[in-house]
Amino acid sequence: MANVTVVGAQWGDEGKGKIVDWLSNRADVVVRFQGGHNAGHTLVVDGKVYKLALLPSGVVQGKTSVIGNGVVVDPWHLLGEIAKIADQGVAITPDVLILADNACLILPLHRDLDQAREAASSQKIGTTGRGIGPAYEDKVGRRAIRVADLADPDALKPKIERLLSHHGALRRGLGLPDADATELFDQLMEIAPKILAYAQPAWRVLDQAHKAGKRILFEGAQGSLLDVDHGTYPFVTSSNTVAGQAAAGSGMGPKGPGYVLGIVKAYTTRVGEGPFACELNDEVGTHLSTVGREVGVNTGRPRRCGWFDAVLVRQSVAINGIDGIALTKLDVLDGLKTLKICVGYKIGDRVLDYLPAGMRDQAAAEPVYEEIEGWSESTAGARSFKDLNANAIKYVRRVEELIGAPVALLSTSPERDDTILMRDPFAG
Ligand code: GDP
Ligand code: IMO
Ligand code: MG
Repeated sequence: MANVTVVGAQWGDEGKGKIVDWLSNRADVVVRFQGGHNAGHTLVVDGKVYKLALLPSGVVQGKTSVIGNGVVVDPWHLLGEIAKIADQGVAITPDVLILADNACLILPLHRDLDQAREAASSQKIGTTGRGIGPAYEDKVGRRAIRVADLADPDALKPKIERLLSHHGALRRGLGLPDADATELFDQLMEIAPKILAYAQPAWRVLDQAHKAGKRILFEGAQGSLLDVDHGTYPFVTSSNTVAGQAAAGSGMGPKGPGYVLGIVKAYTTRVGEGPFACELNDEVGTHLSTVGREVGVNTGRPRRCGWFDAVLVRQSVAINGIDGIALTKLDVLDGLKTLKICVGYKIGDRVLDYLPAGMRDQAAAEPVYEEIEGWSESTAGARSFKDLNANAIKYVRRVEELIGAPVALLSTSPERDDTILMRDPFAG
């Protein structure tokens, strides 16, 4: 049996949380391998809504859940999220949750920097303001505070000094007051025992699970077009979001991630700034936004909406090595008379079948659409492929053809059980 890696194939919010929760039933361990609490993953189980940002979506089914080394962890947020989810009746104990001891921390100074930069910038990214980018900068700059550092107060003090001397210059440039080393040390010492209760060498836990024949499900955050290398740079997040990161961000070898399941929304959305060729500012855009309830989970920002972009998703299939997709939110297209799918980009005199890397080209790309007949029947809540009308089936088949990957799962509502299994990703 293969492991499965779930990745977003667009700009995030494709429905990864729902699909990971559904697949968790068939898995033993669920692992986050990148990003942080910039993610917002929504699960709906019997009408009860769970919103997760940092916790792997397997926690709701009580599966062993690992926050891998590739994740940047705001420890205060983590404790808050554990408390919030406990209030909803999901107990998170160190038996259930494992936090990689080599993961890097997001500190209040990272959030300050993220927000101050966005406020001061003439080219805003539209970040979530949660300190993700600055935390990853400190990680690759080799000055981050890691989970394991909380267990060694004597070594932590000079680390904090070093970090603050770097941040002092940045903060002064942005008009922020200096951060206080003693205050930060005291804050970290206060939460250290609560955080360390979950800390373990996560790579070892995963290695043992693998050797014991357990099924591992990797949960990506964000989406492939937000990947720091492959996305619409600089309008991206600060981590690799593609499936290849599942290995490095968890400490498993390259064969660990197994079957790659791309999560694909039946249309396109994006939150924040950056190019979006298929964006609609008309009544169809309003339909997608209202029927799809396209509002950011964490920031409450409205998501920009547009037609399905087969060019982008075909590119995602390639850069992730996607074996199959979960197509979500098909029901949101119910009632639209004619649907459009982007099959190419017109940039000046050229027509391309991929998104070029240059920022100017990306901004100039105009979609080349093909039209396909819509449907008036409802697909909402369908639990069998046979329940779909002929035009909805045609749409699904055309999507498969254009992106070059088969549909493994189809989702027709936010509810866990409104999910159609076409082929089992765990069967490889
Ligand atoms: P994620 O970040 O990829 O986990 O996705 P989000 O949770 O941010 O956004 C997806 C939204 O769509 C959530 O509100 C889900 O409850 C909802 N959703 C997921 N699948 C479906 C579906 O098939 N139909 C509808 N109507 N909503 C869905
Ligand atoms: P999930 O996992 C959608 C976007 C932000 C911004 C850019 C950089 O729920 O799909 P960051 O705070 O990461 O530095 O912001 O990335 N972004 C997301 N958009 N879904 C997400 O996560 C996102 N996480 C970050 O809106 O454009
Ligand atoms: Mg989301």
